[in-house]
Amino acid sequence: DQNILRDGLGRTIDYLRLSVTDRCDFRCVYCMSEDVQFLPRAQVLTLEELATLARAFTELGVKRIRLTGGEPLVRRDIVSLVEHLSDLPGLDEVTLTTNGSQLKQFAKPLQQAGLRRINISLDTLQQDRFSSLTRRDKLDQVFEGIDAAVTAGFERIKLNAVILKGRNDDEIVALVEYARERNIDISFIEEMPLGQITEHDRNATYCSSDEVQQVISAQYPLLASTEKTSGPSRYFRMADSQSRVGLISPHSHNFCDACNRVRITVEGQLLLCLGRENAVDLRAILRRYPGDTQPLKDAVISALNYKPERHYFNRDDQPQVVRFMNMTGG
Ligand code: GTP
Ligand code: 5AD
Ligand code: SF4
Repeated sequence: DQNILRDGLGRTIDYLRLSVTDRCDFRCVYCMSEDVQFLPRAQVLTLEELATLARAFTELGVKRIRLTGGEPLVRRDIVSLVEHLSDLPGLDEVTLTTNGSQLKQFAKPLQQAGLRRINISLDTLQQDRFSSLTRRDKLDQVFEGIDAAVTAGFERIKLNAVILKGRNDDEIVALVEYARERNIDISFIEEMPLGQITEHDRNATYCSSDEVQQVISAQYPLLASTEKTSGPSRYFRMADSQSRVGLISPHSHNFCDACNRVRITVEGQLLLCLGRENAVDLRAILRRYPGDTQPLKDAVISALNYKPERHYFNRDDQPQVVRFMNMTGG
């Protein structure tokens, strides 16, 4: 089993989420604070370091890499990174999760660089709500970005909507319809408690995936999809549409026992679990042995023995995560 990476609990790890920047042109209320301080460049992994990490993980049997952030498209060299990763032997696919604001410019170049699937965040269709959720007034740019992605010819496009009670929960059906009109997929996400957020009370805005499912089903009956996906989404189909509806339910339907992934933060910390602090400093190894994958692979293999069984969001008897989502890489 040389090229199969397993953790201490026997889970196969074949998926890496690689954060390429902590920066973003939005300030989504559930992700970061308005006065966020971004990292100095020197602390962020270089393009070469990202490439070396990707090589090490594919040598270990990782088949899929998702580029995250922050907002990956604010990183200048993102298209060349995608191009480079698309050519990596052993890698089945490179994907990317974006806020969509710059896709008008980047959709086609990314598709041409080898990106086959793209996820785009869209929490609301209303200007005023968009401005209060992202603290930026760029909804029209996002709409244009989504249209550009549809035209660019990706194999799959998925929208992500984080649903917050009282802020966008009355738009669930409208968001589904927006996706249906474009034959693209949409996932609804329960907000996760990463970082100390002061602007809203996460308990008050909690909206469970079961509620989302009920609201959609009343309009468009949801058929459980038998399709096996590696990832947290539970997918559903609708009788009269190509679009799929996904539910990502970290609170109400824990998916940690099927976890197939690890993350690397923008600073090169290997995060074994999104909701836990266990981490290994891969940047230190990268900077000590530039371009050498062996020491990285040794560190990853031994770290995986300590991948936690699961996260414990909102449990008083468990430590909570202080790191914000933009530092975590989605
Ligand atoms: P796939 O690559 O198809 O699995 O896409 P995805 O839906 O996992 O990726 P995306 O970047 O679109 O993330 C959607 C949401 O799922 C975000 O809120 C992520 O933080 C969340 N998410 C992704 N992986 C995990 C995970 O392992 N644990 C938890 N709790 N949430 C995750
Ligand atoms: N909880 C759940 N999802 C989040 N995202 C950002 N912060 C959070 C959070 N605290 C989502 C974004 C994007 C994806 C990468 O992660 O909306 O779609
Ligand atoms: Fe930026 Fe995405 Fe965080 Fe929003 S959720 S602030 S778009 S990184």
